[in-house]
Parts: sequence; C-alpha cells; structure tokens
Amino acid sequence: METSLRKTFNRSPFFYVGDKFKLLPQLKENFPKDINRFIEPFCGGGSVFLNTQAKQYLLNDIDSNMVALHKLLIAYSNNEDAFWSNIQTLIEQYALSATYFGKDIPQELRKEFPKTYFAKYNKDAYTNLRADFNADKNNTLLLYLLLIYGFNHMIRFNAKGDFNLPVGNVDFNNNVVAALKGYFEFVKSKDIQFNSTDFEAFLNSVEITEKDFVYLDPPYLITFSEYNKLWDEDCEMRLIRVLDELNARHVRFAVSNVLWHRKKYNGTFNYWAQQYNIVRVKSNYISFNDNTEKDTYEVLVKNY
Ligand SMILES: C[S@@+](CC[C@H](N)C(=O)[O-])C[C@H]1O[C@@H](n2cnc3c(N)ncnc32)[C@H](O)[C@@H]1O
Repeated sequence: METSLRKTFNRSPFFYVGDKFKLLPQLKENFPKDINRFIEPFCGGGSVFLNTQAKQYLLNDIDSNMVALHKLLIAYSNNEDAFWSNIQTLIEQYALSATYFGKDIPQELRKEFPKTYFAKYNKDAYTNLRADFNADKNNTLLLYLLLIYGFNHMIRFNAKGDFNLPVGNVDFNNNVVAALKGYFEFVKSKDIQFNSTDFEAFLNSVEITEKDFVYLDPPYLITFSEYNKLWDEDCEMRLIRVLDELNARHVRFAVSNVLWHRKKYNGTFNYWAQQYNIVRVKSNYISFNDNTEKDTYEVLVKNY
C-alpha cells in the first residue's frame, strides 16, 4: 500500500510520528478544490500541505524545531546541489552509513546483527553528531541528520534542552532521498510562510476570508504521542471555540480527530462535532505489533 501511495503523494522527508500520509486519499477527497490560501495551524511534518494545491500556504506549528527544519529545506530548494553536497560531506565526515551514496554496511556486521546492523554501525557516529549538535543548536542541518538516523525519526530534548534520542535502526536510503526530492520540487515554486506559535494566536494573526481553507490536525486528547503532552482539555475547548468563530465568519474548515480509541472516548469533541459534517476516515494499515487499528474511530469534521 505504501509503495502505491508514494507514487501518487508526496511523502514528507520528516517521517513525522502520527503524520497523515496514509490518510491522504481520504482527506483530499474531502478538501475543497478552490483554495486561495491553505492555512494549517498544526502542520507538523507537512504531509498535508505537501499534497494540497493552493495559491498561498500559511503554516504553523508550536514546535519551533520542526518549523526551523521546514525553513531550512525551503531555503535549500533554490540550491539543491548545495544541499546534496553538504549532506554528503556530513555523512562522510561522521562516517554514517548511506546506502543511497553507496556507503553500505559490511557483510560481517549484517550477518552478526541481522535485524539491527544499521543501529550497530551508526551508534558511535550518531553519538558524535548529537554531541556536536548539542554544542551548536543553530546547526539545523545536523538536526535533520539526527532526525533521519535517530530513533523513530523523532525529535526530543531533555529538561536541560539537549537532544537526547538514541540512534535508530535506519539509514539515509532511497526513500529519504525520494521524499527530499519531492519536497524540494513542491516548495520551490510556491508562496509558503511559516510561523511557530500557539494555534489560536496564529489564527488571530491572519485575516482569513471565505476563499481560504483551514485544515487542522491537532494533538488528540485520547491517543498517545510525544506532542500530546502539550494538549489538554483547555486546549480542546479553545480549539472548539476558534472553529465555531471561523464557521460564524463562513470560513471553510476541516479538522481531524479521534472520537474513540480503545476504551477512551472523546465526549466533548464528539458532542461538538454533531452540528457539522462528520466523515469517518480509515487507515487500512495495521501494524504487526499492534493489531488494534479497528478500535480507533478517526474522523474528519468539516463545516461545508
Ligand atoms: C497530529 S500532529 C500534526 C501532524 C501533521 N498533520 C503531519 O501530517 O505531520 C499535531 C501537531 O500539533 C503541534 N501542536 C501541539 N500543540 C500546539 C499548539 N497549542 N499550537 C500549535 N501547534 C501545536 C505539535 O507540535 C504537532 O506537530
């Protein structure tokens, strides 16, 4: 399934946890066709804007590191050669694996650690990379490499503000390269603006009109994810209020959420959503370890 999706849709080169990649066909089917400005207050890794046509993109996420990463790639999109050359130099300098650049893992290591050879090979290189980034946190290209080679492609900082994820069992491979090329190609010719603030402040800073479209993918109250720690009942109530205000101004919106997950139920959101159009969205993907996809009721709620 993923391979056929990748032929049709741009995969975000951030491989963001909880991204909307697998749901894109269903989201797109429900999006308006005539979008002046595409406004996305919780854009995360960007998999939705990267697959939406609009005249202008106003994007936001409270995670300033994610926004810095987007800005980095957008800046490089006008000079891709510099990007590939800089990234290859860093990969060689740290002696990381990179099947794409022909830097493969020795056969002996593959045999000895058949399931974890990338992690074994990259561990020391990754530790050096992480130490260098923590010494100069303005070096966003190092942060991108940490994300690619790190555990689950995540970004996480400890209380002291240091990046603290361990190495992942991953590589700079053809999928990463294809996603980067797709990103560069998409953003190159587009008018895209990024902000990093709370969603409400962001929406208040824009004069939204009826020709615009606001898509929202907030953290979900009842599922687990690193960024869900930032989200609580108060945020949910603010979100609902903001959406009702957009509706009163005839601004089209669509918001993703989960009505129930395993034994948890989001009553507040469900009750609120009844006044709008509720579309159930289904991911056909069921993970090998966790066969519980069917216990999740995910929806797209739209006011048009
Ligand atoms: C479900 S994720 C979005 C994923 C995105 N749709 C994608 O495909 O990558 C939710 C995002 O909301 C952001 N977030 C959390 N609280 C926020 C807030 N108060 N204002 C704006 N963004 C927030 C998180 O950093 C996270 O990136």
